[in-house]
Formats: sequence, C-alpha cells, structure tokens
Amino acid sequence: MTSPSVGFLGGGMMASSLIGGFLKSGAVAQAAMSVAEPVPPLREKHAAAGLFTSADNLEVARRADVIFLAVKPDVIPDVLRQIASTVGQAKLIVSIAAGVSLQALQAQLQPGARVIRVMPNLPCLVGECAAGFCRGAHATAADSKLVGGLLGTVGRAEEVPEKLMDAVTGLSGSGPAYGFLMVEAMADAGVRMGLPRPIATTLAAQTLRGAATMVLAGGKHPGELKDMVCSPGGTTIAGVEALEYRGFRAAAIAAVVAATTRSAELRAAAENPKAKL
Ligand SMILES: NC(=O)c1ccc[n+]([C@@H]2O[C@H](COP(=O)([O-])OP(=O)(O)OC[C@H]3O[C@@H](n4cnc5c(N)ncnc54)[C@H](OP(=O)(O)O)[C@@H]3O)[C@@H](O)[C@H]2O)c1
Repeated sequence: MTSPSVGFLGGGMMASSLIGGFLKSGAVAQAAMSVAEPVPPLREKHAAAGLFTSADNLEVARRADVIFLAVKPDVIPDVLRQIASTVGQAKLIVSIAAGVSLQALQAQLQPGARVIRVMPNLPCLVGECAAGFCRGAHATAADSKLVGGLLGTVGRAEEVPEKLMDAVTGLSGSGPAYGFLMVEAMADAGVRMGLPRPIATTLAAQTLRGAATMVLAGGKHPGELKDMVCSPGGTTIAGVEALEYRGFRAAAIAAVVAATTRSAELRAAAENPKAKL
C-alpha cells in the first residue's frame, strides 16, 4: 500500500502523539507527513524530525490527501475558512476537535467534502489511545478503514454513528480521569495498609493495566475473568464484596452517564449559544 500524504493543521500535543505513532508504525512515510503550526519552537521540533513544516495552513492542506484538524475547537472555523477552497472532494478531512459536529465541519467546506470526526483521549500521548470516530455524509468505508488503521497505530479506535459520540466522550474521552482516580484510591489504600507510596502507586497502576490487557486480549468476558480470581472464601471475593456493598458498579455507571449528559449539554450550548449551561 502506498503511504497517504498526511497533513496536520496544528502541531501541538495531540498532533505530536499521532504523528509519532503514524511514523513509527510506517503507516505514513516521513516524506509524506507535513505540519502547519504557528508557534516557531513547535514548528522547529517537527522540522528537526525531518517533516515538512509551514506556518501556513493552506500550504500544508495543498500537499496532503488526508488533513488532520488538530487545533482547539474555537480555532476550527478560522482554519476551515483558510483551507476550504483547496479541499473539494479529493481530500479527506479528519477532525479531532472535541465537540465539533460533522454538520458544523461540513457546512464550512465545499459540498460533498469527505469528513471524519474523531474523539481521542489523553493516553494518546503514550500510544494507548481509546478513540471513537464517525464519518460524515460523503466519507466512504475506505476513508473509515484508513482512519481506523492510522488511529490503530496509537491505540484502539472504534467507528460509531455520530449520535453515540457523546457516549464515547463520557466513556473513553473522560475515562482516563476515572482510571487515575481508581489508581490513586488503590494507592491510598496500599499506603493505609503500610506500603510506601511509590510502590503502592506502581502496583495499583500496573494491576489495572494488567486487568485491562487481559480484557483486550479477548476471549473472556470481564465477569468471567473476575470469577477466575475469586476463590471461595478468599481475599479477592472479600474485596469485591466491599466494592459492591459501597456501590462501585453503580458509581462507575453513573460517572459515564453524567459525563455523557454533560457532553450533550455542552454540544447543545455550542450549537445554540443562548442555551443555558
Ligand atoms: N489533549 C487531549 O487530551 C484531547 C483529547 C481529545 C480531543 N482533543 C482535541 O485535540 C485538539 C488538539 O488538542 P491539543 O491538546 O493537541 O492542543 P494543543 O497542544 O494546544 O495543540 C494545538 C496547536 O495548534 C496551534 N494552532 C492554534 N491556532 C492555529 C491555527 N490557526 N493554525 C494552525 N495551528 C494552530 C496551537 O498554537 P497556539 O498554542 O499558539 O494556540 C497549538 O500549538 C483539540 O481540538 C482538542 O479538543 C484533545
């Protein structure tokens, strides 16, 4: 397969992580990657890595077949205004801007523009992204396959209908915070029971990573894996009982529901600025 030419508009944190994954995996050749970024030190960082860089979004958009919008959501209209004339239907636009709808993106481009919207999450920075993405009216199954493959170089990506993007935001978008809280709480417990803090934190984080890795390895339902480690009358079922007694499962569900609801509220407010937050 020939490497697609990929351009990033915005060369900040998220862009740097995605670029690193795409290049390392060989999904995109170095010569086919370009970055538009207004901040000189960031531009120089990408240039030092051998990438074509520019301060001009249009210049990068012209070079690329696949254009990633990696700027903050409030900058998106400006950037689209700059590149709309060159985009047409031949190029694929991939937005990672949180909460900016396909409709809003498409409305600022020429009719028939191919657009994909991605919701990545923070562990993208360490190559462990959990992303949801959805495709616009004119993006094709091949476009989805291409974007899913690229995102797969920095973690896992699942395609969903756009109406489920708030749920993706509530689960995996906000989810790292729930994981951090769980690690911190387990580490606190370790300290309470006498473990030194650094050891407790490492053991807690690695334990959650190990559990997640086993689930992702597939083949077994999380409940089945939990049953496997709960021996009759043992330590683990005593711990599980304590969690269930305090509503752990209900709390986790409520967290995702609350974040999904908030995502929908913020989106509605952005679409109708007069709506109450
Ligand atoms: N970080 C996350 O965990 C996360 C998670 C999900 C989604 N996202 C989304 O990812 C996008 C990027 O986030 P980030 O954390 O990577 O932000 P970031 O580090 O601030 O990167 C954005 C970069 O774009 C530059 N920029 C500003 N205006 C520009 C323009 N007109 N043309 C080209 N570049 C421009 C910014 O420069 P200045 O610094 O000068 O503004 C900055 O260097 C956001 O839309 C965010 O919603 C982020």
